[in-house]
Amino acid sequence: MCGIIAYIGNKECKNILIEGLKRLEYRGYDSAGIGILYTGKGGTKGGVNTDNEIYHIAVVKNAGKIRALENELRSVEVDGFCGIGHTRWATHGEPTKVNAHPHLDCSSKIAVVHNGIIENYAEIREELRAKGHKFVSQTDTEVLPHLLEEYYNGDLLIAMQKLMKRIKGSGAIVAISTYNPDEIIGARIASPLVIGVSRNGNFLASDMPAALEHTRNFIVINDYETARVTRSGVEIFDHEGKIIDREPFKVSWSIASAEKAGYEDFMLKEIFEQPYGIKETMRGRVVNGKLNFNELGLSEKQIRDLKRVQIIACGTSYHAALIGRQLIERWAKIPVEVDVSSEYRYRDPIVEDNCLFIAITQSGETIDTLAAIREAKAKGARIVSITNVVGSTVARESDSVIYTHAGPEIGVCATKTFTAQVIVMYLMALYFGMIRGYISGDGYKSIVQELEFVPNKVQNILNRADEIKSIADRTYKYTCFLFLGRLYGLPVALEGALKLKEISYIHAEGYAAGEMKHGPIALTDRQTVVVAITPKDSVYEKMLSNVQEVKARKATVFTLATEGDTSIQKYADYVFYLPKTLEELYGILAIIPLQLYAYYIAKNLGRNVDQPRNLAKSVTVE
Ligand code: AGP
Ligand code: GLU
Repeated sequence: MCGIIAYIGNKECKNILIEGLKRLEYRGYDSAGIGILYTGKGGTKGGVNTDNEIYHIAVVKNAGKIRALENELRSVEVDGFCGIGHTRWATHGEPTKVNAHPHLDCSSKIAVVHNGIIENYAEIREELRAKGHKFVSQTDTEVLPHLLEEYYNGDLLIAMQKLMKRIKGSGAIVAISTYNPDEIIGARIASPLVIGVSRNGNFLASDMPAALEHTRNFIVINDYETARVTRSGVEIFDHEGKIIDREPFKVSWSIASAEKAGYEDFMLKEIFEQPYGIKETMRGRVVNGKLNFNELGLSEKQIRDLKRVQIIACGTSYHAALIGRQLIERWAKIPVEVDVSSEYRYRDPIVEDNCLFIAITQSGETIDTLAAIREAKAKGARIVSITNVVGSTVARESDSVIYTHAGPEIGVCATKTFTAQVIVMYLMALYFGMIRGYISGDGYKSIVQELEFVPNKVQNILNRADEIKSIADRTYKYTCFLFLGRLYGLPVALEGALKLKEISYIHAEGYAAGEMKHGPIALTDRQTVVVAITPKDSVYEKMLSNVQEVKARKATVFTLATEGDTSIQKYADYVFYLPKTLEELYGILAIIPLQLYAYYIAKNLGRNVDQPRNLAKSVTVE
């Protein structure tokens, strides 16, 4: 769970690597390092010292953020035309300088960066130690350069292919060597790795934004494939070492869209991009008031025959799944089960015929979600995934993919990808409901019409961000937050609480309001803020009772109410008004002020909202 960038070409690479690492920092950032091939005089030939140029690898690394690495680099003058870089999110060994990547072999001729976990590293290390190899770090990764050293017999690619057969686990691996300074070798098992192709040289990276400044042309490396990347060319090999012909594809993401575009933080920029992300996600799927969902790859008969839907996801995507459950059950009358991915496969799940399996994952790389997909697939399920990343592993392993077109999300905290996922759930549930005949023509029309208003209504909320800011300014010092909701408000309450704890580090709980009396109400006192989702829907009266209960216990109450509902003001300290909509659609509106609320509280507390402590954007280790 980290970032890898490598470059070989006609430009000096130090700055290219550092800039690439900065773009990847969101993937994991406890330490960082680079390795550069450079030449020095004084080679030997036939045992005689000569003036020949020989290659060395300069490795510079540090614990902490990229800034710490840049400080370290100030005293290093070397540069070169081939190098590798890494930001680490430790899995084995503390995040220290010595454990940071790249790691070297005994003779410092091979340098390796790696993303993932080598499960059988202990056994390999013992074996290599017995052969005389010396290890300096506590990482699992360090066995890789030593294995390559052991296997090297004139071609680093062949050594890498042999290594791939020896290791178990996950990873993207990238290596350079002084043996052949004109190549970078890459390999992949279950962690993302792409090749960027440009006129001035070629790249290997764990994610496209790392090289987007230099190229829009990319090639994806698949599991168990290896690649040889040189200044002028790229060769990809399958798991048997046979060459594969794969053309680059062009991405439309511009570098500007991957940067902050004038906002203070990526998170804020991404919150404000939601009207666009929602529109983009609806584009092509709602045409002239009609739904088009060919990409599902399901015939109308298959949809009519569905007996059950199983959704799996983690974190924020799980909350989108909970919304999906309510919608599919209400509109399409199909029973839906929702599990967090990490639990799904432990419960020996039953996969019956006519069951549709849906995986929701922003990144498309979450290892728990992948594992759940593989489990379900092995049991015969048909997999539909909903993801934001074209070419991601989940996308490639699914039978069909529904892309959310929210654009790249850099902030660790998911915002615009959540609302895009929720839109897909609305559309899918509606589509199923139509085909199964549970939604009348008029009902369908009014929902589609309302959905088309959603981007404007979200914009209306964003235009009033200052109102949320002033509530945050007045409440950020509280230490306990309860988010309460019922029905469609419940997943929103859970997501609102997750946003707040993730970026502000304040203890927050999302709760079904009806559960308050069964425990959490004991927490309520003057130190508590209760955020209540109280739109004018079928559970409004019940929510109002819950609000009064916590108010009577001296909590500070902040409610999200429907515009025009002035009567709620007497129960609440703060009210933010949501534009009117259908009861099923309040969720997508109500989450926007809660994202902003978490953001402004975290900013008041001086937190780094884009890179909250202990978290990484793509969770590619279990
Ligand atoms: C969201 O703010 C979190 N960073 C996290 O819960 C995230 O939603 C989760 O890790 C799932 O990621 P995915 O959607 O990429 O699978
Ligand atoms: N397992 C490796 C380590 O702990 C790589 C972790 C990562 O993906 O950053 O160093």
